[in-house]
Amino acid sequence: MAILVLSNPLPSAPFAAALRQASGGIPVWTEQDSPPPEAVEAILAWRMRPGILPQYPNLRVLCSTGAGAEKLLVDDLPEHVPVTRVVDPMQGVEIAQYVVATTLQFTRDLKLYAEQQARAEWKRHPVRTAVRCRVGVMGLGAVGQAIARAFLPLGYPVGGWSRTPREVPGVATFAGMDELPEFLSQADILVCALPLTDETRGLLNHHTLAQLPRGAFFVNIGRGEQVVEPDLRALLDGGYLAGAALDVFEREPPPPDNWVWSHPQVVATPHIAAQASFDTVAQQCVDALRRARDGLPQPLAVDRQRGY
Ligand code: GLV
Repeated sequence: MAILVLSNPLPSAPFAAALRQASGGIPVWTEQDSPPPEAVEAILAWRMRPGILPQYPNLRVLCSTGAGAEKLLVDDLPEHVPVTRVVDPMQGVEIAQYVVATTLQFTRDLKLYAEQQARAEWKRHPVRTAVRCRVGVMGLGAVGQAIARAFLPLGYPVGGWSRTPREVPGVATFAGMDELPEFLSQADILVCALPLTDETRGLLNHHTLAQLPRGAFFVNIGRGEQVVEPDLRALLDGGYLAGAALDVFEREPPPPDNWVWSHPQVVATPHIAAQASFDTVAQQCVDALRRARDGLPQPLAVDRQRGY
């Protein structure tokens, strides 16, 4: 019985190597090994296509390589197979670092100063006041809260929006679709830290993004599918939004001729805001398999109904 790594489009070798270290002798295979399907007990994957899982009749657990496991929730996922996600204690902190870095690059005009430096130009601009740097974090799970907390000591007012009401000390919170317009109207810096669900797919579109204050900046570390990318582009091109930092995209990687690579107001990064270590991913996958074998509950299982 064995663990199969199907991490495409992520390279499988580092996951397989870490799993071999962690697995205590359980064989670890990649797709190239063409393993006998009946021997596969656990699959480690980032995304899944329909038609794959029914090939593995003895599958006990499906493990995500990431914190978000929505791309594994295919229609033919067997009822009895739990899907686990990675819970990395550093994830919230690393994502908060990314969001603070890209936000400050915008609010402190660092790109402008880099351009001036290239011209040896000594020219000072007023610092954007904190009242024009109100941060609004969509999604107040562990990651969203870590982002919100990271901004508080920087002096920027912080708001947060979630599906159901949440309290976060120091953060003005809003909940539900009814309160979304008010939340958006106060977000000079909008940060998306939402899970991808049927409700959040396409939630950031022309209608919602146009409710931000003019000149707002948008940071997406959630999922690309939450943004209608042509709508975002139109608002950037039309000058309504001042810029965006995008770490996630509808299609990853975006094709070379995609507008996001070359748009002057866009910072585009290859889904690197946080990266759980291969060892953490491997250890949690092996633990999930052991638990499945022992019939124990899976603390890292996603709620299939909720989608995260
Ligand atoms: C990254 O987006 C992850 O889900 O871990």
